[in-house]
Amino acid sequence: MRRYYKVYTEMNLVSAILKVSILSGGTYMSRVNYGAKPIMLPQPVLIIATYDENGVPDAMNAAWGITTDFQEITISLGEHKTTDNLAVRKAFTVSMATEDQVIACDYVGVESARKVPNKFEKAGFHATKSEFVDAPLIDELPMALECRVKSFEDGILIGEIVNVSADESVVTDGKIDLKKLRPIAFDPCNNAYVALGEKVGSAFADGAKLK
Ligand SMILES: Cc1cc2nc3c(=O)[nH]c(=O)nc-3n(C[C@H](O)[C@H](O)[C@H](O)COP(=O)(O)O)c2cc1C
Repeated sequence: MRRYYKVYTEMNLVSAILKVSILSGGTYMSRVNYGAKPIMLPQPVLIIATYDENGVPDAMNAAWGITTDFQEITISLGEHKTTDNLAVRKAFTVSMATEDQVIACDYVGVESARKVPNKFEKAGFHATKSEFVDAPLIDELPMALECRVKSFEDGILIGEIVNVSADESVVTDGKIDLKKLRPIAFDPCNNAYVALGEKVGSAFADGAKLK
């Protein structure tokens, strides 16, 4: 089963560290080897929201996810109330966790609606049904992907992205504005949430200087 996050939480990052020196592009680097670990830097903090069979909303935190096509998202998931809900409703939303909601976003990652049915409410979240899929949007998180379940096999959820929505409060000149949204990232090396920094380059443009 490819439930990387479970493996990750059980492992000790400082164990079996092997230092080697390698010659890289003419520069000697002293690298620390961590072995095979599910680490990318940074990782997103995705808040997956679903309805259960009675229409009760749930939310969970997922950092092991990424878009894998223009209209596709892939997330590594264990067994949760969320996956029960996905089986029933075949839909979910994925909101970007934000700086001002960091406590609520972590809470939904450390508590299960299987134990606490009003977990969503306890997080301080309010739900508005998506216009596009049978899943809740979280009023407190202004940007979300609205998705249909394509498949969930062997711990891998693949969703079709049907719509992306953002509250006007985080939009500037028609574009989602990161300075307003203030999404957070997950640092799996230190189990930390981090804020994004300043713009340091222009994508699909800066590299042209070396062409
Ligand atoms: C930072 C963080 C990242 C997480 N990433 C994942 C993940 O990628 N996949 C997963 O299955 N669980 C992940 N979890 C654990 C779930 O969010 C957690 O088990 C949650 O309680 C499930 O809620 P539910 O049972 O109400 O669905 C993560 C938790 C935290 C705090």
